[in-house]
Amino acid sequence: MARFIGAIDQGTTSTRFIVVDEAGEIRAVDQREHAQIYPRPGWVEHDAAEILQNARAAIAGALASARLTPGDLAAVGVTNQRETSLLWDRATGRPLHNALVWMDMRTQAAAERLAAKGAGGLLRAKTGLPPAAYFSGLKLAWLLDSLPGARGKAERGEALFGTMDSWLIWNMTGGRHVTDATNASRTQLMNLSTLDWDDELLTLFDIPRACLPEIRSSSELYGVCRDPLAGVPLAGALGDQHAALLGQACVRAGDAKNTYGTGCFLLMNTGETPRPSQSGLLTTLGYKLGAAPAVYALEGSIAIAGALIQWLRDNLGLIEKSADVEALARSVPDNGDVYFVPAFSGLYAPRWRGDARGIIAGLTRFSNKGHIARAALEAAAYQTREVMAAMSADSGVALSELKVDGGMAANDLLMQFQADILGAPVVRPHHLETTALGAAYAAGLAVGFFKGVDDIAAHWRAERRFEPGMGDVERARLVASWEKAVERSLGWSA
Ligand code: G3P
Repeated sequence: MARFIGAIDQGTTSTRFIVVDEAGEIRAVDQREHAQIYPRPGWVEHDAAEILQNARAAIAGALASARLTPGDLAAVGVTNQRETSLLWDRATGRPLHNALVWMDMRTQAAAERLAAKGAGGLLRAKTGLPPAAYFSGLKLAWLLDSLPGARGKAERGEALFGTMDSWLIWNMTGGRHVTDATNASRTQLMNLSTLDWDDELLTLFDIPRACLPEIRSSSELYGVCRDPLAGVPLAGALGDQHAALLGQACVRAGDAKNTYGTGCFLLMNTGETPRPSQSGLLTTLGYKLGAAPAVYALEGSIAIAGALIQWLRDNLGLIEKSADVEALARSVPDNGDVYFVPAFSGLYAPRWRGDARGIIAGLTRFSNKGHIARAALEAAAYQTREVMAAMSADSGVALSELKVDGGMAANDLLMQFQADILGAPVVRPHHLETTALGAAYAAGLAVGFFKGVDDIAAHWRAERRFEPGMGDVERARLVASWEKAVERSLGWSA
C-alpha cells in the first residue's frame, strides 16, 4: 500500500528528494550539491547530466534512509529552479551545452535590444514579464544561435528545449517531453491567458515550436517513472517559487509568501485573473491544478539572497559554513553604517536594472567582517521591503504579515530584522521545506492522495512569529541609507 508521496526539488545549488506522509510531515530527505560553473564574469552554467545524476542519487539515498521502496510512493512531483535553460539531443539524450542558469547575464545586450525596439509593451501584455536577461526565451535563442547545427536540429525536433522540470521528467519517464504552465510562464514564449506557446512571441524570439515541450497543468499524470522510482506515477510539476506558494498554503487571493533561497522571491496569490503590475513586479502563473482554472500571482524577484552568503563563504572565505553567518553578524550590535547591494546579476524587482553591479558602501577604518556579514543579511530584508511596498501598491492589499520559508528563514537575526524593517510581523512555518512540500502536494492531489487545497492548507502551522520592534525614525534612517547605496550601484556596467 503506497503511504507516501515523493518530491524532487531541483534548486540552483542542490537537488533534494523528500518523502511526505498524508499529514504533510516530511519522513525522509536527501540532498546533493552540484557545481556552479562560471566561464566568464556574469555567466553561470550547470551541468545537466550532473543534476540528473544527483536527482537519482538523492532519491536512492532518501528511500534507503527511511527503508522505503518505490512501491511505498503513490506519486512523485518535481519542482525546480526556474528559467534555467537547456537543449538536449532527442536521440542520444545528451545536452548540447551546459544549462544557462537563470541568473546568467550573457543575454543582457539582447534584452536591451528587445527593449529598444519597443517589445516591452507586447511582452508585458502577453507574458507579464519585462525584457530581461533573466527569462528563458533569450537564453534558448542564445543556444540556438551559438551552438553549431543547433537551430537546424531544433527545427527538425531533433534537439529539445526544456527547463529543469522538463529535463528531469523526460529522463525519468523515458521520453515524455512536457513542462508545466508555471515553468512555461517564465520563458516569455507562453501567453499568460491561453497557457499556450504564442506564435507572435515565437517569431519575436526566433524560436522553432518543434523544440518546445507540451505545456500541461501543474498536477496531472505526465508519465510513469523508471528506475530508481520504477512504476511510480510522475504527477506534479511546478517552478520552485510556485511550489512554495502552494506549500505555504497561499491558496486564497491576497495570501503571500517570501522564500529566501539562492535568490528571494515574494509571491502573492491574486486569484483567477492575471493582474498587471504598475510597480515593477512580474505577473505570473501561481499554479494550475489539473482541470481547475489557473491561479495567477504577482511576484517580486530578488536575484541574490542566500547566494551572497555563499559568496562570503566561497569567494571571500569569511565563514566556513553558510550557517556561521548569523554568529558573525551577531558579533557586532548593528551594521556600523555598512550597506551591501548584491547586484551581481543587476537588480531585479522592482527596478529591473541590468546595468547595476554589486557594491559595499559606507566602509570606514572601523568596519570589520561582522559588519559585512550583517550588511549581507540585511540586504535581503531591505530588498524584500521594496518588493512588499510594490506589492501593496499593485494589489491594493497591505500585507498584514509576511509568511517566510527557505534556508535563510532559519536565521533568527535576519527574520527579526525583516520584521523590524517592514514594520510588520514575520511568520515562519514549522517546515522550511515548503518548496518540496508544494510539489508533493501537486502530485498527491493528482492521484487523490490529498483531497483538495483545503486538505493541504490544514497541514500548515506556524513555528515562530517575529514582531517588529524598531521605531519609525530609526527605520527611516536605515532605509534612506540603503537607498543611497542602491543609487550608487546603478549604471556600473554601462
Ligand atoms: O527564478 C529563479 C528561482 O526559481 C531560483 O530559486 O530556490 O534556487 O533561489 P532558488
